[in-house]
Amino acid sequence: MRIDILTLFPEMFSGVLSASMLGRARESGLLAVETHDIRAFTQNKHNKADDYPFGGGAGLVMMAQPIFDCMDRVLSDGMPARRILLTPRGRPLTTGLARCLARERRLVLLCGHYEGVDERVSAILDDEISIGDYVLTGGELPAMVLIDCVSRFIPGVLGSAESAEDESFSEGLLEYPQYTRPADFRGMQVPEVLLSGHHKNIEAWRRQQALEKTRRMRPELLGNHGKNL
Ligand code: ADE
Repeated sequence: MRIDILTLFPEMFSGVLSASMLGRARESGLLAVETHDIRAFTQNKHNKADDYPFGGGAGLVMMAQPIFDCMDRVLSDGMPARRILLTPRGRPLTTGLARCLARERRLVLLCGHYEGVDERVSAILDDEISIGDYVLTGGELPAMVLIDCVSRFIPGVLGSAESAEDESFSEGLLEYPQYTRPADFRGMQVPEVLLSGHHKNIEAWRRQQALEKTRRMRPELLGNHGKNL
């Protein structure tokens, strides 16, 4: 997959894109990511990419012109892309949406800033996505979250020992607790069933734990069906 990021702060991305799973995915050629500095496309003396909102109000609004020109340049190679704005006004990022985005050949991510983006930019967008009901200072961290989340569903990105499926949310439940060696750590024991080698019992225990955790932390995920569990 190819991902282009349109941002006022390209320097924010280097660490996240180089380490761990994303670093490996890029090295192996499964993922190609490039950042593009929106400010480089401004046409005014002070390289201003934002201005006061028409109608008044607090904060500054990102101007349409540098974004249109940056987008034009990025797409000038002719390769089609799904163009996405990261904004708290977008639809929520979920496992289902991430899985769907992982099937795209190319994404262009536009990171919003300040009080928002000139609404006319929506003419060159396919989607608007939020990573949660809270407001961050910009769309850069959400873009990183989206890239990380989507990359896990690109075949080959996770090693064979890892799985994007057997985890929290893949079944609509939070994940069961995990333990590793030693079996006794400072007097705290690993649950007996996990040492038993009895796969049916282990599976049943994990399911019961997942239900219990979900009921306590995220009861809304269980819906009506889960109320009596
Ligand atoms: N920009 C600021 N807050 C955001 C959020 N919660 N999701 C996506 N983009 C954002």
